Amino acid sequence: MCGIIGYIGNNNAYSILIQGLKKLEYRGYDSAGIALSNGNIKVFKCQGKVADLEVYSSNQDISGKAGIGHTRWATHGEPDDKNAHPHSSMEGDFILVHNGIIENFAELKADLLKNGFLFKSDTDSEVIVNLMEYYYRQGKSTSSETAVRLALSKTKGNFAVAVMCKNDKDQIIAARRGSPLVIGIASDAYFISSDVSPVVNQINSLIYLNENDVAIITKGSLTIKTLENAPAPFKISQSEITGLELEKGNFEHWMLKEIFEQPKIISDILHDRIVHDQTGIRLDGLNSVYSKLPEASRIIIIGCGTSWHAALIGEYLIEEYARIPVEVEYASEFRYRNPILKPTDIVLAISQSGETADTIAALQMAKNSGATILGICNVFASSIVRLTDAGLFTHAGIEIGVASTKAFTAQVTLLTLLAIKLGMDRGILSAEVSQKLIQELIQVPAKINSILDNHLDIRIIAEKYKSSVNALFLGRGTLFPVALEGALKLKEISYIHAEGYAAGEMKHGPIALVDNKIPIIVIAPKDMNYLKSVNNIHEIQARKGKIIGVITKGDTDLSSLITDNFEIPEADPLVTPLLAIIPLQLFSYYVASALGCDIDQPRNLAKSVTVE
Ligand code: M6R
Repeated sequence: MCGIIGYIGNNNAYSILIQGLKKLEYRGYDSAGIALSNGNIKVFKCQGKVADLEVYSSNQDISGKAGIGHTRWATHGEPDDKNAHPHSSMEGDFILVHNGIIENFAELKADLLKNGFLFKSDTDSEVIVNLMEYYYRQGKSTSSETAVRLALSKTKGNFAVAVMCKNDKDQIIAARRGSPLVIGIASDAYFISSDVSPVVNQINSLIYLNENDVAIITKGSLTIKTLENAPAPFKISQSEITGLELEKGNFEHWMLKEIFEQPKIISDILHDRIVHDQTGIRLDGLNSVYSKLPEASRIIIIGCGTSWHAALIGEYLIEEYARIPVEVEYASEFRYRNPILKPTDIVLAISQSGETADTIAALQMAKNSGATILGICNVFASSIVRLTDAGLFTHAGIEIGVASTKAFTAQVTLLTLLAIKLGMDRGILSAEVSQKLIQELIQVPAKINSILDNHLDIRIIAEKYKSSVNALFLGRGTLFPVALEGALKLKEISYIHAEGYAAGEMKHGPIALVDNKIPIIVIAPKDMNYLKSVNNIHEIQARKGKIIGVITKGDTDLSSLITDNFEIPEADPLVTPLLAIIPLQLFSYYVASALGCDIDQPRNLAKSVTVE
């Protein structure tokens, strides 16, 4: 939540900052701002998107070879001009952009008010910048760097900050705790960014700042220390992503591009993890702890949102194919409910961003209890990757669309591989059965492609239902979490109220919603639950409900029975979740597109939820 960018070098900073903010806008987009240093420090900020900031700052002096920028997802204070970042301290000594939440801001603010400080915004961020000024003015020889460190040391909570000082105009100080921040290094410049996407094509190497580290950056120097002023060790690494992945190409939205990337991503995952003769699975990222897994008495999987849905599919698959008990919890509940955790537990966190605050806190709690903690993550060097004992990368490439698509199918693919591997290693699956399952997985990318080929048919159906006020998604077994995920996609990007339900639960309540208006999406492929799903369909039809079926290609019995169909290829139930979600992603996308919604940046949302 919130994106930070900074630049100091030989070029004009303005356009670099604006382009960077556009790439970070997926992290929050209710206001934007920049500060530029050129003799003095000028601040431009306004409510709205980066495009609005460009309009606001046009015809103004935007020169300067150092600057910081911010795109905001509001936590403290409305999304308006005064709460937009950068924030300046009362006398203008410091200018700051901040991502995160300062938990003790009320207490700090009360002290500052007593010391005569006045505030212009409702944000917690303004408290930090005023605290910096307080320390700076207290001691005659206090440097700007010392003031920044002292102020940040007094805060509780999370921050990533970039700070400029009126008296040190060619310096930017960056620091982090809990929220991500990277320093990009080019031959003639330094960059600061919330993630690598804005800087990847402009740098030679980068440093992921560690917790409580402070970077003092000038045009020609970089020093990294701890908040306590001790030298801090850091690792310079090469960026692991290519610029190519960051182009939208001919796609109208990132979300659509990411939906279409799924066959390739799954194919790459399978290529890397299935051994050459297709008789086994290698999950090298788990090697250091893997011996504990087949013997585990239980696995607890935690996550939020879409990652939680993937976790639920993991539960069904691991219990079915490996017969290890699995519990799935919302990280946000787990962290506050005093769960019984034992050192023998395996706790697996699933997270696209690796920065979700609730998931990090839940994982930390599990770590403290002595459990083995694992991760399935998409972002290298993210907080969760650094916290876990071992883990698997989804290698899905940066996901820009706020509504998660490719990360979900990548997570489910890894969980499917894990379930089969554990089943093999525990002697539950014979070599013959596991090879058949591996073959089923290998066919998934081609099968997804065949669904994507029909995207225009899905678009026609979506346009028919765009005026719906509510929608219900039903599924059984592993397709119940798919129903939840289908409903989440629709509500996130089209703002249509949608609910996912286990189909067997329909008659225990949701059936009351059935009328001749609400579309009911029933996921009913030809699997072991087929006849039960057909019963659901009859029950809905008896009440004049409109049904969209996700059905197996060639199932004329169902296609003739129901109003609209999304066909998926015939497949083993192991892989049906990976197929059934595709038409639901496209359906949501085309409904939102028909409604003219802001698909990649839906209202009120942000890509990574780094605050509670
Ligand atoms: O980065 P994470 O996977 O930890 O994020 C978890 C959720 O915030 C995320 O899945 C959210 O629900 C998405 N907007 C779903 O599309």
